[in-house]
Amino acid sequence: MELMEKAIEAKKNSYSPYSHFKVGAALLTKDDKIYTGCNIESVSYTPSCCAERTAFFKAVSEGHKEFKAIAISGDTEYCYPCGVCRQVMSEFCDKDFKIYIGDKVYTLDELLPYSFDMEK
Ligand code: THU
Repeated sequence: MELMEKAIEAKKNSYSPYSHFKVGAALLTKDDKIYTGCNIESVSYTPSCCAERTAFFKAVSEGHKEFKAIAISGDTEYCYPCGVCRQVMSEFCDKDFKIYIGDKVYTLDELLPYSFDMEK
């Protein structure tokens, strides 16, 4: 699958000298562009950014705000997105946004049910 291959490729750029845990992500826009990201760590830890958010912020900063799917590849067989990244996904994605992890696929609604919404 092309999206997962791009996530695996992006993982090579991971800057993770503290955790030694490499992650790559590839995000597909609704108009079929792919933005990749890797995790980027900081010696003071808090400013670190996950691969998924790197990909989202690259895409949004270039004018893309609608997405179909993301593939995530970490150093484990199944690297699930953290809570902060799930929240960022919910900012820009529909409930049926697809999240590919290893050989599994989930919707955003499955990984972040009952998410906060100021209109409900
Ligand atoms: N990390 C990600 O980039 N994405 C995930 O889905 C989980 C965790 C990063 C954050 C940190 O750089 C390292 O993996 C260890 O937590």
